[in-house]
Amino acid sequence: MVCLGNICRSPLAEGILRHKAADAGLDWVIHSSGTSGFHIGEPPHHLSQKVANANGIDISGQRCGQFRKEDLRFYDKIYVMDRSNYTDLNRLCGADWVPEKVALILNELYPGEDREVPDPWYGGEAGYHEVFSMLEKACEKIIEKSK
Ligand code: 4NP
Repeated sequence: MVCLGNICRSPLAEGILRHKAADAGLDWVIHSSGTSGFHIGEPPHHLSQKVANANGIDISGQRCGQFRKEDLRFYDKIYVMDRSNYTDLNRLCGADWVPEKVALILNELYPGEDREVPDPWYGGEAGYHEVFSMLEKACEKIIEKSK
């Protein structure tokens, strides 16, 4: 799961998918990172933690990291939150780019529409709830498709 800061959206996506995969008995390796290195080593944003907690998911143990080229080789699937994440990853990976592995997460729910998970960083708590709800539905779809 990849966003810009690995502070707001992708930590939620990691927490939600891990929770749902465990419930479904799926032995998946799930991780998140940011395209930027602005917040390396920090825990998720306090509002992401609050909204996750309110939904029974603990993301407090996560620490922010930056996407590395090797991640593209290691993971089977990389989900990005918005189109600029996609472009940034493409640039970061250069000649190693594997387009089949990378997708906008909301295309799981709305194939081909290239909808984006909005960045809640500059807004209030409501934005984090909205992001949680979008990511929860997308993660449900990811699990459903794997069955
Ligand atoms: P995220 O949100 O990509 O959902 O983690 C952001 C977090 C931090 C910044 C931008 C977006 N920032 O500019 O520091």
